[in-house]
Amino acid sequence: MTDAIVLLKDDHKTVEKLFKKFEGLGDAAWKSKRAVVDDIIKELSIHAAIEETVFYPAVRKALPDVADDVLEGLEEHHIVKWTLDELKDLDVHHERFDAKVSVLIESVRHHVEEEEKEMFPAVRKGLGRKTLQELGAELDKQKAFVPRKPHPKAPDEPPANLIAGPSAAAADAVVDKAKKRLPGRKKK
Ligand SMILES: [Fe+2]
Ligand SMILES: [Fe+2]
Repeated sequence: MTDAIVLLKDDHKTVEKLFKKFEGLGDAAWKSKRAVVDDIIKELSIHAAIEETVFYPAVRKALPDVADDVLEGLEEHHIVKWTLDELKDLDVHHERFDAKVSVLIESVRHHVEEEEKEMFPAVRKGLGRKTLQELGAELDKQKAFVPRKPHPKAPDEPPANLIAGPSAAAADAVVDKAKKRLPGRKKK
């Protein structure tokens, strides 16, 4: 059984690897830059969504002392999701593309550091092994249902995000399928 904090830290590592990959690419590696950023968008959208639907609400309910960290986390997610939403549609050749990715990387690294150094240790101490394992299983399950794209305007707290999440995920899948049916359509 996976411990919730181990699972979330693994996600952080996956994202950090993608950040390093992006930073190692040449300025003109347009195709690779687009592919890596698309992976970053997918990984961060799923990660933020499982934290918002499962982990943050559970932490807030069980540990009132950690509530402020959760609220700050939600605001940081909010800003990240706006940037992801812009990057999703921004031409890789645009002069703002690299700068936008750099600022995204900076803010996610800051957010991850706060989670791993402040929130997670407090949660590990407060929740105990069994609860963390149950939460881990729940986080793992939720990965299949949450949107794989950023939805910065969607609600980020329960119960509203539990209703909006799966339908947003279904809508994303429909859009992706429709795009595949139009191979000649140029991606903006
Ligand atoms: Fe987070
Ligand atoms: Fe996180």
